[in-house]
Amino acid sequence: MGVKESIGGIAENFNHPVQAYANTLPYMLGGLTLVCLILLMLSGMYMALFYVPTIQQAYSSTLNIIQNVPFGEYARSIHLWAANIIIVMIALHLARIIITGSYKKPRRLLYFVGLLMFFTILFLTYLGTTLPLDQVGVDAAIRSQQTAALFGASIPFSQMLGPSAVAHTSILIVALLLLLAIHMYLIEKVGISPKATKHAKARATAGEGKSNFLVHLTRLAGFGCILTAFIGTLALVSPAPLGHPGVYDPSVMITKPVEAILYVNDKMLDVFGPTSLLWGPGLLFVLLLLFPILDRNPHVYWRKRLPAMLLGLFVLAWALIFIYIDASAPTQYNGLCATPPTNGACVPANAENQTLENVSILEGESLGLNNTLYYVSNGTAATPMDVYGGYVNVPSKTQDESPYIIAALAALTVAGIAILSIDRLKKLYRRR
Ligand code: HEM
Repeated sequence: MGVKESIGGIAENFNHPVQAYANTLPYMLGGLTLVCLILLMLSGMYMALFYVPTIQQAYSSTLNIIQNVPFGEYARSIHLWAANIIIVMIALHLARIIITGSYKKPRRLLYFVGLLMFFTILFLTYLGTTLPLDQVGVDAAIRSQQTAALFGASIPFSQMLGPSAVAHTSILIVALLLLLAIHMYLIEKVGISPKATKHAKARATAGEGKSNFLVHLTRLAGFGCILTAFIGTLALVSPAPLGHPGVYDPSVMITKPVEAILYVNDKMLDVFGPTSLLWGPGLLFVLLLLFPILDRNPHVYWRKRLPAMLLGLFVLAWALIFIYIDASAPTQYNGLCATPPTNGACVPANAENQTLENVSILEGESLGLNNTLYYVSNGTAATPMDVYGGYVNVPSKTQDESPYIIAALAALTVAGIAILSIDRLKKLYRRR
């Protein structure tokens, strides 16, 4: 095949028909999820150049990324914010799919593959929190250890980081990309679901539509630029914090759990123990799995399938409540005391102990499992947020880099608005 034919083939591919309603925001939420995924992969790949996945260096290499690597702190902040926003995007994508009945045959398999991607992303997020080995990370690793112990597997703490890092940076990413390729192939094969009007029924629509894929991609690029600028702005005004070096003590949880992302919270952990780490996400998975199995009538209009809609709203409300719990929890640390607490009373750790010079000493001690800090699990007497904010106080490098970042964010916003206005600009031009 000649070069001309190849270019022609590619152009034809971009020219295939797409329904005009697929160019609206609700039908772009899957594409915007993909934008978050791309941001996560780019920022993650950059950090992986400097992160060292050994128990001795995980924390210090994370500090190095924040303090010395050009745009390192910013890349880490983008990674953290994109990890949060991708969950919101998936929730919205899923809401649209439930409302428009898009999980019905012939899109059942597409839906199941999406579900697997969702849980792979949740698992990736959970493993990601363990990597810096700050207190949040060590506590999450302890919970994984306790969950593994339920199945008779005893994994020493010193051997947990390597597999978590490999899974987070390669195995799960490859799995996710494979699932994504299947997701995209199936969308291409069956086409987007029919508009959910009163009498519409689920059916394949590939090859139908008055718009085309290039228009769809162009609009997605416009929304994608604006979403990227939004995530970039969040990362600029609220850089990702780093907790203190982790203290390993399985008998007590120092930090608020990060498990809200797995739809498990403090109370569930207290009552049901580490098994809730399995059945929390498991229950959500089963509920989501039920849609295409229970709702077999071919109608896509929401009124004609009210029970499924109610189940959908319940599941989404549950997911959103947990996202809210995660986002709104006031303190990261439950309590960190300078001396062993007596009768629940705790002398707050001295703020000066937490300066950067002491970080490496604390890290050495905590990794030797022989630390000199003492803590209570629900420190009523101490609110370390008042003492040292719960996080190490390192100078923010992002501030020095902000002129370049602001210029890039402004360029992205202008590009996004210009791309989304192309149609209007064309019409204006034609009228003249
Ligand atoms: C990494 C996560 C995901 C990505 C990147 C992604 C991407 C996409 C894209 C680009 C589309 C085309 C239409 C649109 O944007 O709405 C789409 C459609 C679809 N997705 Fe996803 N998706 C993801 C997660 C999910 C999840 C969690 C589910 C369900 C459990 C799901 C189920 C579907 C279904 C059923 C369609 C067809 C919608 C229709 O025909 O109206 N996807 N996805």
